[in-house]
Amino acid sequence: MDQTGAKKKTRVLSGVQPSGEAHLGNYLGAFRQWVHMQDEYECFFTIVDQHAIVGESDPAELPRLTFDMAVSLLAVGLDPERCTIFVQSDVIEHMELAWLFNAVAPIGDLERMTQYKDKAARLESVPAGVLNYPVLQAADILIYRAGAVPVGEDQRQHLELTREIARRWNAKYGELFPEPEAIIPEVGRIIGLDGNAKMSKSLGNTIGILDEPDRIWERVRTAVTDPQRIRRDDPGRPEVCNVFTLHQLVTDAGLIPDIEQQCRTAGRGCVDCKRILADSIADAFQPFRERAAHYRANPGEVRDILERGADHARSIAAGTLAEARRRMGIDWRSAIP
Ligand code: TRP
Repeated sequence: MDQTGAKKKTRVLSGVQPSGEAHLGNYLGAFRQWVHMQDEYECFFTIVDQHAIVGESDPAELPRLTFDMAVSLLAVGLDPERCTIFVQSDVIEHMELAWLFNAVAPIGDLERMTQYKDKAARLESVPAGVLNYPVLQAADILIYRAGAVPVGEDQRQHLELTREIARRWNAKYGELFPEPEAIIPEVGRIIGLDGNAKMSKSLGNTIGILDEPDRIWERVRTAVTDPQRIRRDDPGRPEVCNVFTLHQLVTDAGLIPDIEQQCRTAGRGCVDCKRILADSIADAFQPFRERAAHYRANPGEVRDILERGADHARSIAAGTLAEARRRMGIDWRSAIP
């Protein structure tokens, strides 16, 4: 309870890579949940440009990709009056806490991370940042002493490591960091238009959430459906069709029984079924396109929102960092009586 007697909200932090305009997978797998969490939780959302530089990011592109992701977050309905949105590099305290955590993060655990192993296997020379990526992620979360972290299934392991870092640090320097819970959305991972891999920009299997209706149709049209449904009159199997899965996530629930039935009986062909999906997406995201147009026309507003977000985030992060430093003895002035 705070002074007014209100129950204190659980603090939440989540992060997203600066990958430019968001796609349907970002929205259904993460942002939709973030938007719904704004009132029930005290939310912090950060665009992780310091994480991006250990990937294949291009310095000439990164500023634009970061800005476009910020526009996407605002477009889907994150409201700067109800949550804190900021760019990771604006709160430099994350960096220092990550270094302090390097004092307790076990290399063996870092080497066991699936994401690390996948990336390292593809690289001839592995930058240390690829290994230490989850240490910075732990700092992003723990510097706000967040109680919960909404993330996709693929981040569960990083969250487990965050908890392990908190435990080890607390055991050595005294209780400071809570062990955050992962909140994994029920939708699971969103499969791309190829019908097979996770929707992701680098695979080119996405639909942009800010795409115009014509473009949405161009993209949805290429979606892979039930591979056994070859001719127009072949009955389809909605349970193996990614277009049907997407319908269940975006199309009006009242229409779903008919879509399923018409697929099974071949009453409707895949092209027409995709038309309905493209229309659902175009309609559902119309308000997103409008908000994005507003922010693109007023980029100064985006800058102000991100700067205000960073100021607020920093006011909390600085306090946690100061305490962590003190507990670790990074505090030489205390030797002077
Ligand atoms: N690693 C996350 C991803 O690739 C992004 C991220 C960075 C993050 N810091 C975070 C997610 C803190 C949640 C909390 O999706």
